[in-house]
Amino acid sequence: MIAMLCSYPRCLDHSKSFGSHCYRNYFTVLGLFCVYFLHTIFASSQYFSLLVPIRSYSSSVPLTAETYADKVQRNQAYKKLDEGDLAYFQSILEPNQIISNNEDDLAFYNEDWMRKYRGQSKLLLKPKTTEQVSEILKYCNSNKLAVVPQGGNTGLVGGSIPVFDEIILSLSSLNKIRSFDNVSGIFKCDAGVILETADQYLAEQGYIFPLDLGAKGSCHVGGVVATNAGGLRLIRYGSLHGTVLGLEVVLADGTIVNSLDSLRKDNTGYDLKQLFIGSEGSLGVITGVSILCPARPQAVNVAVLAVDSYESVQKVFNDARKELSEILSAFEFMDETSQILVSKYLKLDHPIESDSYPFYILIETSGSNKEHDDEKLETFLGNAMENGIVLDGIIAQDETQLRSLWNWRENIPEASQMQGGVYKYDVSIPLKDLYGLVEAANEKLEAAGLVDFEDISKPVVKAVGYGHIGDGNLHLNVAVRKYSKEVEKVLEPFVYEWIQSKKGSISAEHGLGFQKKNYIQYSKSPVEIALIKDIKHHYDPNGILNPYKYV
Ligand code: FAD
Ligand code: MLT
Ligand code: ZN
Repeated sequence: MIAMLCSYPRCLDHSKSFGSHCYRNYFTVLGLFCVYFLHTIFASSQYFSLLVPIRSYSSSVPLTAETYADKVQRNQAYKKLDEGDLAYFQSILEPNQIISNNEDDLAFYNEDWMRKYRGQSKLLLKPKTTEQVSEILKYCNSNKLAVVPQGGNTGLVGGSIPVFDEIILSLSSLNKIRSFDNVSGIFKCDAGVILETADQYLAEQGYIFPLDLGAKGSCHVGGVVATNAGGLRLIRYGSLHGTVLGLEVVLADGTIVNSLDSLRKDNTGYDLKQLFIGSEGSLGVITGVSILCPARPQAVNVAVLAVDSYESVQKVFNDARKELSEILSAFEFMDETSQILVSKYLKLDHPIESDSYPFYILIETSGSNKEHDDEKLETFLGNAMENGIVLDGIIAQDETQLRSLWNWRENIPEASQMQGGVYKYDVSIPLKDLYGLVEAANEKLEAAGLVDFEDISKPVVKAVGYGHIGDGNLHLNVAVRKYSKEVEKVLEPFVYEWIQSKKGSISAEHGLGFQKKNYIQYSKSPVEIALIKDIKHHYDPNGILNPYKYV
């Protein structure tokens, strides 16, 4: 019988809206509070930043430059920031748009979400207009100052933070909604608008942002476009390559390219905006986005199901596509260990309490007629249980329960790194082979004697698998007690070779960033890599944009 979810103990809405830095912020908030007073005292001086002494900051996150000293050295062609540069930025920005030489204040922007990478930037700029972005880049390009564009800093490949002393260009103050046309559904906003803010605005108009992901409370609209994020509903709304209509982008030399007024159909010339979608800050800085938004579904159902094998996951997916067809809006899978970790993290029992199962599936349907959708879903689930493929399941009865079920999926990233860290591999693999990678990774780690779920003397807790199975996208997360070269050497290039052998992609949605810069050849041919390098050189001949990453 499918159990109905009723009085489900809830907590943790913070993870829904934030999906990220909450625990880390506790540590930095105190520091920031003290620094606030220093800023207030010195803010009257134009050169307050120079006067604040560099105070030492202690972080447990290793410096990228030290951990990966064997792979990357600072390119001495880049200028080192001096007081003249700072004086220039102070002449075009207000004091509250600049953070400089203060390690505490810069800490959040220098460290990534996984606490795996740490840069050493001494300067963060927060432009409020596209023109300011243009002036900053023009100056940096002329002076060969390297720049890292940064959105909400939720990226998972070390792309959003500096490797050495690059200037951080944060889009967080460029955060206005520009317009919404409720006939066409075209939404235009600054790049720094938070994804959840954009979606809430659209909800009030009866529309939905055509992308959703666990980090929605922190990531930017510009950031998701820059990474070509996929997320939880790609199966329904497709990729950003299809929904983004136009972009405003500032090139490395300060040139502003604006295609925000593009129409849905426009076959005049190359579709240049596509180059910037997924370019991870390597070709230009996205300052504005125009995107086509669908009407918000009125009827939404969520069910979590238990099955006994990966083969059954595929079978349920196949049946769901046929039987739920147009109302299917998400199809996610989670393995048993991922759910044990979430249970530990949420401090809750799993919603399917009767037993523990090897795999779980989250199905979401969205449509316009609740009765019709309920009937369709119930028939589908009834059949699946009758023929023995689905062993148990639960359907949310209201909005709160619906959110609770999504939490079991959306909290896996946070839960899998709570023991100390996580090595993430975000991959596309033909469906039949997809879960084989998780098994292969666990076998490899066990053979090396590195893994034990309980024994804290072992560096690895376990490799877990989950993801957007409807898109052929697996997230292999290797939960570790600490980051270590020993573990990394067992996993890389092994994981990339395994993916290549199955004709998969080493990045389905998170991108290349710093983590996969040296592994692109596992998914792209030498000819393709040469073309990518040509394009990069054409748009950014001095290589000032997001160096040491991507390609
Ligand atoms: P950042 O992390 O700040 O930057 C990411 C990259 O884009 C960097 O290379 C940066 O230089 C560049 N960049 C950022 N803004 C701009 C800009 N305006 N112009 C040019 N370059 C820019 N990803 C998915 O695809 N699907 C998911 O389901 C998903 N879920 C996630 C869940 C959690 C809990 C977390 C922490 C991350 C998740 N991600 C997911 C990762 C995903 O890449 C990011 O959440 C999001 O796409 C990054 O947006 P951001 O604004 O934080 O960008
Ligand atoms: C997800 O699907 O949850 C994200 O891509 C994030 C992650 O895998 O960590
Ligand atoms: Zn994902």
